[in-house]
Amino acid sequence: MLKRQAQLSVYIGTLKLKNPVMVASGTFGYAEEFKDYMDLKKLGAIVTKTVTLKPRQGNPVPRTCETPAGMLNSIGLENPGIDVFIDKKLPFFKKIGVPIIVSIASEASAEEFIALAERLDGIQEVSGLELNISCPNLKDAKSGRGSHALIAQDAQATQRLVKMVRKVTKKVLITKLSPNVTSITDIAEAAEDAGSDALSLINTLTALCIDVKSRRPKIATITAGLSGPAIRPVAVRMVWEVYKRVKIPLIGMGGITDTESALEFFIAGASAISVGTGNFLNPKVSTEIIGGITQYLEKNNIRSIKKLTGSLLCQR
Ligand SMILES: Cc1cc2nc3c(=O)[nH]c(=O)nc-3n(C[C@H](O)[C@H](O)[C@H](O)COP(=O)(O)O)c2cc1C
Repeated sequence: MLKRQAQLSVYIGTLKLKNPVMVASGTFGYAEEFKDYMDLKKLGAIVTKTVTLKPRQGNPVPRTCETPAGMLNSIGLENPGIDVFIDKKLPFFKKIGVPIIVSIASEASAEEFIALAERLDGIQEVSGLELNISCPNLKDAKSGRGSHALIAQDAQATQRLVKMVRKVTKKVLITKLSPNVTSITDIAEAAEDAGSDALSLINTLTALCIDVKSRRPKIATITAGLSGPAIRPVAVRMVWEVYKRVKIPLIGMGGITDTESALEFFIAGASAISVGTGNFLNPKVSTEIIGGITQYLEKNNIRSIKKLTGSLLCQR
């Protein structure tokens, strides 16, 4: 008898993905950069680089450096702004034919988030919005200094913002959480209560690298966001904790570089995963993971990826 192929499709809110492998915001550009390395159609979904209302030049250089098992970045949301995004970047996404999640942010006000959500709500090809309320590399809007308190560091602020955006869009709404908090579960619950359809976690961890010869920070903004395999155990722990507290689907990320690291996130509680820094190491890795997950499910006689989500066995 022919063995049935393992089912990879998952739902993120009302959005059906043919497989649960996505690419993380800011690490896949506007997809065109990756078209020569892989078949973009194979991806479950693509999350765009974060877009803001106005163009942003981003932070001064140096804004990246390597770390043991990862990297620091302080790009500062460089992007061409929503008008150029819609005119020049979106047409390429339309051609790919996989769900597009547009990541949006504001450094100034909730009204900017609302304006962005309203603009994108009317565009059929946009499948969902990801609220980037967790970028650690923005300056304080008032003082122009340091990194300001993030919306994602405050449960009430998260709830207020998600509620306001929820009112103006029918698109699938994903809230991206920060690991730079005391209790990520409190923020997760606030986003769920306010109507978020799903949660993405985690964004980068605030970090500092020092050049001991010059005694200067290696990154111009002094602190920056740590990503890559170094943060994976923290991210997996956070997914596991949040999974126990909320009902909405989780999109897990943080240091995924191969099938095994992706599987950890599903077992901890993720319904889908996103590859970030791993794209820089191997631009094809996300498509390789899709094949790897299928093999794992079939080898272990698991009919559907949904059965793997939250299947962590804690008793010894
Ligand atoms: C160079 C770089 C740029 C990033 N830009 C964004 C961004 O624009 N918006 C966002 O929500 N996250 C951004 N991130 C965070 C990633 O989407 C992801 O949450 C984080 O890096 C953890 O996953 P990883 O360890 O697989 O990279 C960026 C990460 C890197 C490394």
